[in-house]
Amino acid sequence: MQTQLFISGTWRDGADGATIAVIDPATGDRIAGVASATPADATAACQAAHEAQVEWAKTAPRERAEVLRRVFELMMEHQDELASLIVREQGKPMSDATGEVAYAAEFFRWNSEEAARIRGTLATAPSGNNRIIVRHPPVGVVVIITPWNFPAAMITRKLAPALAAGNGAVIKPPSETPLTALRIAELLTEAGVPGGLVNVTPTDEAQAWFDAAVEHPATRMLSFTGSTPVGQALLKRSADRVLKTVMELGGNAPFIVFGDAVIDAAVEGAMTAKMRHSAETCTAANRFFVHANVAEEFTTKLAEAMAAVKVGSGFDDDVECGPLIHGKQLDKVAALVDDAVAAGAEIVTGGERLDRPGSFYAPTVLRNVAPDSPITREEIFGPVAPVITFTDTDEMIGHANDTEMGLIGYVFTSDLARGLAVSERIQAGMIGLNKGSVSDPAAPFGGMKQSGLGREGSTDGIYEFCETQYIAADW
Ligand code: SIN
Repeated sequence: MQTQLFISGTWRDGADGATIAVIDPATGDRIAGVASATPADATAACQAAHEAQVEWAKTAPRERAEVLRRVFELMMEHQDELASLIVREQGKPMSDATGEVAYAAEFFRWNSEEAARIRGTLATAPSGNNRIIVRHPPVGVVVIITPWNFPAAMITRKLAPALAAGNGAVIKPPSETPLTALRIAELLTEAGVPGGLVNVTPTDEAQAWFDAAVEHPATRMLSFTGSTPVGQALLKRSADRVLKTVMELGGNAPFIVFGDAVIDAAVEGAMTAKMRHSAETCTAANRFFVHANVAEEFTTKLAEAMAAVKVGSGFDDDVECGPLIHGKQLDKVAALVDDAVAAGAEIVTGGERLDRPGSFYAPTVLRNVAPDSPITREEIFGPVAPVITFTDTDEMIGHANDTEMGLIGYVFTSDLARGLAVSERIQAGMIGLNKGSVSDPAAPFGGMKQSGLGREGSTDGIYEFCETQYIAADW
């Protein structure tokens, strides 16, 4: 498969010939060397995207829709192959990888449908002196920077609406997982995406690459998914050129279980919210607030379910949790658990690294966790569930909201009125009410507070990739 940069519809080495080593997190082995883009390559990619975008923006929405639909079909035809690539470079279990490809492809199907439905408005001004015409042209060139936890879906969630709206794109996939992105570039070409419209430039020089991309005069937008600290730095740099931004940043999700919840359903939801994609999602439940009346039953059942999780290579049968992405992440997760235990938390199950090659951590449940301990403040990004017991709802909601993050929260209760009332009080852009997963291309994904700006997916998502132009008219 291709391991070079994809710029202007052609495959080429980086300007200085440097490469990035791609590592299999299940073994620590090097699996590929991928070309690393220089700042000059970033500039060339932005220029190519600009030239192709001018023509793409003139195409009929239906024409764009049909190309996007073809990408969806090709991704599904290549579902197993793409999933294998994801497992190889990211480590997640094959079932999660297969699901990710379907999720990723769906952004193309959804946005192929949305491409033909970008609406403007026409109104008469209250004074009667003016007609107000509002239209939504594309922004131009969009810089897309994505994380390693979803090597396919975090690209397509941005790229599909960007293309549907008539934009060009320059993508920087993560240096940990560039192979899936490069394979998607090949499928885009096969589907009929014009050369130069989408450019894929992995790089080991992220900051210099970004400086060059931001400075290109055609760059008008940044769409980023990643950590809040990196997002803050990118926002500051984007301010120099007043770029439009959509930012999907970190999470610190509360998972709330009331005394009247159906405990087996809550445990099932908890396993999904915590463990999907090897617990490396920004939507992962990070803090479990469980009512004292059911804390023993919930914690025992959760610990049983966590202890039963088969951990191993994503290629092995029945594996439900793969390795963490690299040793640095493993060290971070281990340190958070060790600190929590030193501060009085009790390990119910797990609590240790696995003695095997690769970066594996045992699925872990902690109880007696203090609501303000470090493990409740940091995004864990690993298979660890800290349980905090509560009796007072107001106090618990105070703790749940006592974070700068506001991506998602989960609420489990049999009382729908209570569930909705508590959902409204949780400061988060998304709520799973008796649901352990909310992700859906047809729904608005995004956070409040420092978890982000803007929304991806749904009927609104495509407008993030559009300008708003008002024409005052008279006739
Ligand atoms: C993420 O972890 O960044 C995205 C999770 C999702 O789309 O479900």
